[in-house]
Amino acid sequence: MALQITTARPDPALLDLPWSTPLEDWPEHHLAALPRGISRHVVRFVKLSGRVLAVKEIKEDIARREYAMLRNLRRLDQPSVEPFGIVSGRIDANGNPLDACLLTRHLKFSLPYRALFSQGLRPGTETRLIDALAVLLVRLHLTGFWWGDVSLSNTLFRRDAGSFAAWLVDAETGELQSSLSDGQRAHDLDIARVNIAGELMDLQAGELLDDAVDPVEISNKIVTRYEELWRELTATEEFDTGERWRVEERIRRLNALGFDVDELAITTDIGGTSISIQPKVVDAGHHSRRLLRLTGLDVGEGQARRLLNDLDSYQAATDRQNDDEELVAHDWLTKIYEPITRRVPRELSGKLEPAELFHEVLEHRWYMAEREQQDVTIERAIEDYVASILPSKPDEVSVVGVDTVEMPVIAQPPSRP
Ligand SMILES: Nc1ncnc2c1ncn2[C@@H]1O[C@H](COP(=O)(O)OP(=O)(O)O)[C@@H](O)[C@H]1O
Ligand SMILES: [Mg+2]
Repeated sequence: MALQITTARPDPALLDLPWSTPLEDWPEHHLAALPRGISRHVVRFVKLSGRVLAVKEIKEDIARREYAMLRNLRRLDQPSVEPFGIVSGRIDANGNPLDACLLTRHLKFSLPYRALFSQGLRPGTETRLIDALAVLLVRLHLTGFWWGDVSLSNTLFRRDAGSFAAWLVDAETGELQSSLSDGQRAHDLDIARVNIAGELMDLQAGELLDDAVDPVEISNKIVTRYEELWRELTATEEFDTGERWRVEERIRRLNALGFDVDELAITTDIGGTSISIQPKVVDAGHHSRRLLRLTGLDVGEGQARRLLNDLDSYQAATDRQNDDEELVAHDWLTKIYEPITRRVPRELSGKLEPAELFHEVLEHRWYMAEREQQDVTIERAIEDYVASILPSKPDEVSVVGVDTVEMPVIAQPPSRP
């Protein structure tokens, strides 16, 4: 049988990769040394035509299933890694068959949780990761995806304005249905809780997690955070016809959580004295959609919220409350955001995504102002940040030559009180 390549983006360079060699033995010059999480299968990052792909060696039927699943999740606008292709029909030099490979695009600026923990973290990071995972799980469940192997290892994290956004990386065990029963959701949550507790205990055994942190207590948080969010997004609320403002208020609460209401069911009782409302379709990404519409910037939800706040203060500071929002946004983009993010020297540009950098500069300005007891301009803040903070940050676009478990411990600035 001959080599068979299935991909939505055919790239002839794929043919140059050493498919007749087991993935474990691929020569260094094909590989990109990026932090990688724990896995059952052999996974390697491979350089191909200027991009980086994650290659996972796996049985062909499983590869095809996972490929199709990832494509569906992307179509449903879920945060998952992007499938790139499948290579099957591999044969080694002695004519023996080799397993197939599933190719996904490497998710830029993403970090496996172990890499995060080996960086020396601010207190409470484990809780922020759990929060991000709870949001991801709620989103997946709302679209009818049952994961089956929820864990920190099967999730990638991206910095999102001081918090994290979680992305699904391993869809092997997942199932997509029109909707999930309460029992199925509870099952996934149970798997999550047990896996997370185990993963945190592992970190503790490896002295990467503070002894004061209780793995069981933290892992239970996935359940409470999930349930809180699920309730807010799906529960029916009842009130008197005289309290119609509560419709508006519910929508505002959902927006604050980062969701838009696409469809809201409103019903009244027979006598017409009470109203009940229930969100039917909600879409994540309220702030990032708004920012995208205003400025064309495509960033994380938390980052978007932060940038929108800065845009608001810009509007107030320039006394333009009555101007068109689009016009003010354009000025803010060209006069503030772009010049500031362009101030990063090229050799430091792999440290942080521009939007995350902007967020950090705003934080830094806050510290400086507090220290100096006076207002600090954003221009001074970026200058000081680039000189004193940025050089010591780990390179997150590509941590070259370092494996996850060996990543250096780098001191973080003190957390904001
Ligand atoms: N597209 C990707 N981008 C970034 N990292 C990835 C990607 N695909 C896989 N990885 C890394 O490889 C690890 C293992 O992948 P996973 O699909 O969970 O393999 P397994 O099925 O063997 O558990 C992940 O934890 C992640 O760190
Ligand atoms: Mg996995």
